[in-house]
Amino acid sequence: MTIRKIDYNSVLGKYVLLRDDFNVQIENGKIVDSFRIDASMPTIKHLISNGARVVICAHLGRPKGKRDEKLSLRSIAEYMNIPFVDDCLKKDFLSDMKNGDVVLMENLRFYAGEEENDDDFSKKLADGFDIYVNDAFAVSHRAAASTVGLTNYLPSFAGDLLVSEIENISNVMEKPEHPFIAFVGGAKVSTKIGVLKKLVTIADKVVVGGALGTTFNFALGMPVGNSLYEPTMADVALDIIKIATENNCDVLVPLDKGVGKEFDKNAKRENRDVEKIKDDDVIIDDGDKTIARNHEILENAKTVVWNGTFGMAEWGKVWGKSSFALAQDLAHYTKIGKIKSVVGGGETVAALDAIGVHKDMTYVSTGGGAFLEFIEGKELPGIKVLQK
Ligand code: 3PG
Repeated sequence: MTIRKIDYNSVLGKYVLLRDDFNVQIENGKIVDSFRIDASMPTIKHLISNGARVVICAHLGRPKGKRDEKLSLRSIAEYMNIPFVDDCLKKDFLSDMKNGDVVLMENLRFYAGEEENDDDFSKKLADGFDIYVNDAFAVSHRAAASTVGLTNYLPSFAGDLLVSEIENISNVMEKPEHPFIAFVGGAKVSTKIGVLKKLVTIADKVVVGGALGTTFNFALGMPVGNSLYEPTMADVALDIIKIATENNCDVLVPLDKGVGKEFDKNAKRENRDVEKIKDDDVIIDDGDKTIARNHEILENAKTVVWNGTFGMAEWGKVWGKSSFALAQDLAHYTKIGKIKSVVGGGETVAALDAIGVHKDMTYVSTGGGAFLEFIEGKELPGIKVLQK
């Protein structure tokens, strides 16, 4: 894929409208996780140091076209220590900007035209700018005014983060070193059908875990007790196993589970083999045998992709045991140069952060849904419009 990259030599004195993804978790006005903001900094710094006048636009949450102060980007401007403009369509501030200045505009999704990719909104948004730069990989799977519509009105380019996401994920999907192992967890098979079907055609092993893995266990006739799973996805799970077999890929399901008697952070953890799950067991994590099996198969791996935690990692080390064990292993094997590790998805990245191994991965994507769609091989609308 060839994409039009921003040429920093051409931005001096230019008004650059930069689309970033700042859809981060904010609690009581405090940014809980700044990964996406931090990952956007190289492009911002390059634009500033080359004398551009940079106006950042972004979204937060899903306000559905209405102003909602709880979803204002003001606290992000404060975090970045840059001026904030509370209206995306009033451009009088532009005339006060000097080369190297940067400001952040209010949440794009306060305007109905943004998500509708409305032509009139795109035109008004573009007004006053010379160049559009998309650095928001994480929202490039949405055809919005700020990801697609703007390109009809401004010369349009990709920023450093967008280029890096495309290169790193394409690299691992197009020419992975084998053995290639994919770990897919999370709550639902239904949100990952496309990605699983794609991975089983490329990887040597696809390890399914978490509640998603429980659905696979159920499809294979195992009891699942009083647990979260998707009974209607059993046929889909079997279909994925069939496609895997046709492509010489093994689908590895959980061997045992960490169970409690209620879905509660403080529940007492026991390990239970999957064929012995009791009616009143609640599966909350993958079990110790599964953790050991995952560890073992990593010993020969060369490429690993991971999306989706295997249990309630957000509850801490008891119920995050299997996710943290994998994160630790990936960090170790990546650091000693044995594997290339690519990780994506909000909760998965949070699990890396929780044990301080984020920096040890080969590549961590800022994308959630966009990461999955890109892996699946879908054409992302925000990227398509920037292709040469
Ligand atoms: C994300 O957080 O994955 C992106 O910002 C997209 O957000 P959305 O799912 O609300 O479109």
